[in-house]
Amino acid sequence: MSDLWSDRAQAYRDSATHAGGDDLDLVVEWCEPGPDVTVLDVATGGGHVARRLRDAGAQVVTVDAAPGMEPDVIAPADHLPFADASFDAVACRIAAHHFPDVLAAVREMARVARHRVVICDNTFTSESAEEADRLRDPSHVRNYGVAEWHSFFELARLRVADEATMVRDTDFEDWLARTETPDADRPRISELLDGRIHDGRLTLPTVVLKGLKAA
Ligand SMILES: C[S@@+](CC[C@H](N)C(=O)[O-])C[C@H]1O[C@@H](n2cnc3c(N)ncnc32)[C@H](O)[C@@H]1O
Repeated sequence: MSDLWSDRAQAYRDSATHAGGDDLDLVVEWCEPGPDVTVLDVATGGGHVARRLRDAGAQVVTVDAAPGMEPDVIAPADHLPFADASFDAVACRIAAHHFPDVLAAVREMARVARHRVVICDNTFTSESAEEADRLRDPSHVRNYGVAEWHSFFELARLRVADEATMVRDTDFEDWLARTETPDADRPRISELLDGRIHDGRLTLPTVVLKGLKAA
C-alpha cells in the first residue's frame, strides 16, 4: 500500500482540501504549538499539518508509511519507532480511515504522546458511501462514527477533552483524480454518494478529537 501512496505524493502536496480548512486550523490549535513544544505528525502525507505546526514554532517530526511522502521517519502508524512519551503532542489528520488496525494506531499515538493526541478524520455516513470510498481508493479501510472514536480513545486510555464535528467539502473531480480512479468506476461512485455531491463538490463529514493522557 505504501508504493501506491508514494505515487500519489505530489497530488496530496498540491491538494487544496488538504492544504487548509477549519479542520486543519483546529488540529494545529489543539496541539498547542510553541517554541518548546514537540509534535509528532502521524501519516503526514503532503506535510500540511507539519508545515503549519512549524510555522507556529513547534518542533515537528513527521512519520508516514510511504517513502514517497518523504517523512522524517518511515513507519506504519501501528508500530511507531519512538519511546514512550517522546512528544508533547501527537497529531493525525485525514488518514486513520486507511489504517488496517486503527485501535493499535491510536494506542501507539497515546503511548508516544506525553500530554495530548489530536485526531481528525472523515466520519461514517452509510455503507453505500463506504463502498464508494473503497471503489475510489482500494486503500480505504473504514470511516468511523463519533461514538466509535470515543471507544478507541477510551481503550487507548485517552480522555476526550475537546471535540468538534464539521462538514468539509472537496471538488469531486479532483477527489477522483488524486487516487487515479478509473473512468469506468466514476458513475457508480456518483450513484453511491447520492445526496452528497452538490455543484460538483463532495461533502465530507469530519470529526476532530483531542485526547488527554490519563494522569
Ligand atoms: C490523505 S493522506 C494524509 C493527509 C495529511 N495528514 C494531511 O493532513 O494533509 C494519508 C496518508 O496516510 C498514509 N498512510 C496510509 N496508511 C498508513 C499506515 N498504516 N501508517 C502510516 N501511514 C499511513 C499514506 O501514506 C498517506 O500519506
